[in-house]
Amino acid sequence: MTDLAPRPVSASRVEMTQFVLPPDTNQHGSIFGGRVLQWIDICGAIAAQRHSHRKVVTASMDEMHFLVPISLAEIVVLRACVNYVHRTSMEVGVRVEREVPTTGARTHAATAYLTFVSLDETGRPTPAPPLLTESDDEIRRWREAELRRTARLAHRDALRRLRGEA
Ligand SMILES: CC(C)(COP(=O)(O)OP(=O)(O)OC[C@H]1O[C@@H](n2cnc3c(N)ncnc32)[C@H](O)[C@@H]1OP(=O)(O)O)[C@@H](O)C(=O)NCCC(=O)NCCS
Repeated sequence: MTDLAPRPVSASRVEMTQFVLPPDTNQHGSIFGGRVLQWIDICGAIAAQRHSHRKVVTASMDEMHFLVPISLAEIVVLRACVNYVHRTSMEVGVRVEREVPTTGARTHAATAYLTFVSLDETGRPTPAPPLLTESDDEIRRWREAELRRTARLAHRDALRRLRGEA
């Protein structure tokens, strides 16, 4: 039986640091988008697991933009936390920064929002603990995540209606 006592956002925080090696890059010497997505998914899944203390699956990842190129031998810092919990689903925000090793300068490279679903022992969705938002930033992120969830569901339902599935 998993403890469903509310947990603070801080309990889910993850910081992950990666060094960009040749197998992570494309023919231009900059990083593969797919590698960044892989790191985002791993970082986000750890945050969701730290919150839920359950196995989780990625249900979705929102549209994402790569803001700056990241090159071979640069450093990628990913930071994640749970923004919002509904019933079994959790929205995790992941911020990606490029760090230049020779100066330490960091630039915002991408932000991703992923939805993870908490699973029980049989692999079925199961409730995740409520989220305790404490700071003004955490409350703002919760409100923004709630808006994104509403938009995601409206978008999904509109597509289903268009295809005659609803
Ligand atoms: C995600 C998954 C478990 C949802 O199962 P389901 O039978 O649709 O379950 P439900 O309808 O009860 O939905 C469970 C929760 O998932 C959410 N959810 C389902 N599909 C979603 C999607 N595409 N995006 C965001 N949330 C989604 C629901 O809103 C619900 O949230 P809530 O309980 O907080 O209200 C199922 O679709 C699945 O296993 N997908 C494959 C996941 C996977 O393999 N990921 C690895 C990457 S390939």
